[in-house]
Amino acid sequence: MTAEAAELRRILADRISENGSLTDPAWRAAVEVVRREVFLGGDVYRTNGSAWELVHRAEVGEEAWLRLAYSDTTWVTQVDGVDAADAPGPLAGRPTSSSTLPSLVVRMLEVAGIRDGDKVLEVGTGTGYSTAILCHRLGEENVTSVEYDAGLAKSAAEHLRAVGCSPTLVTGDGLQGYRERAEYDAVVATCAVRHIPHSWLWQIRDGGTITTTLSGWMTASGLIRLTLDDEGVATGRFTGDTISYMLARPHERPPRPTLVPRAGEARASRVDPGLFDDWAGHFVAQLAAPSAEFVTMADSVVLVDVATGSQAWTEPAGAGWTVHQSGPLRLWDQVEAALLTWQAAGSPDQNAFGMTVTDETQTVWLGNPDGPSWRLPM
Ligand SMILES: C[S@@+](CC[C@H](N)C(=O)[O-])C[C@H]1O[C@@H](n2cnc3c(N)ncnc32)[C@H](O)[C@@H]1O
Repeated sequence: MTAEAAELRRILADRISENGSLTDPAWRAAVEVVRREVFLGGDVYRTNGSAWELVHRAEVGEEAWLRLAYSDTTWVTQVDGVDAADAPGPLAGRPTSSSTLPSLVVRMLEVAGIRDGDKVLEVGTGTGYSTAILCHRLGEENVTSVEYDAGLAKSAAEHLRAVGCSPTLVTGDGLQGYRERAEYDAVVATCAVRHIPHSWLWQIRDGGTITTTLSGWMTASGLIRLTLDDEGVATGRFTGDTISYMLARPHERPPRPTLVPRAGEARASRVDPGLFDDWAGHFVAQLAAPSAEFVTMADSVVLVDVATGSQAWTEPAGAGWTVHQSGPLRLWDQVEAALLTWQAAGSPDQNAFGMTVTDETQTVWLGNPDGPSWRLPM
């Protein structure tokens, strides 16, 4: 069985090298050694399209479990705070923790540009798999990882111990960083943020990096590596990867009442609501209305502002679309203006965007720092 697992790890490493996520031999060596099955424990969730069903190691058998562990797949381990090990049966809800697909784990680390000897703060220990990958390359003394959920943190510590790894593990809010072990060469977040926490900026050295996905309540996402200069300003460009992580828990959207589209001021839209299907278009819309949620209903795009209850929704009208807006914010006006700006620049991919973070402001810009820009909510 050990030989079979080693062979499956080699096959996994080959596969993610072929898709371009894994180029650095040092990360490849880690993928070939770290036993992912240990980090999955005995139970994971699998979606059937409408609910999260359970897959139990004891039921599927060792061979099938190993194949599952070494598929390049994200395995959800917690839904709405319920661990797969404790779930009474299938659950509807949102994943709140997972073992990220290995190709994305190493892609993040490659984007981060981590080198031997670097001291790294990981935010989002989850199962501990990515923490173990970091430890394999950097040594456990150089790795600190923070997990918000106490139960998950405890399981991750057990998994890491089982593979002989003792990095510094912290239970708490990784958005606060972990000052006791600063300064870091790099922060790597395996959960997404709506803006960059100041503590990350303050806890990396000059020239240090922050690698994270920037996301929000419209669920658009962009992967970026920011580098801190000696004046305390961090800048970087989005990579264009079409990947996303679950939002950091303190950045999650607050609950809202059941959504009922309201009548409002109606006018013709100047942009196609189908632009929300474009990775960069969706991202631009989120920048323009950062406290709005995005929902699709039949052939309508619906935006709801979480803070004010303002709404905008579209409906097909002849060859175009009508938009209805109500509430104190004109959400569609905001989104439309941003999408028109993006279209005027030739509808570039997300790697045309960058970000500048200072102590006072955080802006995402198009083209260069003097180009069109949007402030992030903080
Ligand atoms: C995608 S999972 C992490 C996957 C993990 N790196 C692995 O390889 O298994 C995201 C994790 O981030 C954690 N998380 C969310 N918000 C957090 C926060 N503010 N601080 C630390 N961890 C957080 C979640 O509880 C979840 O376990």
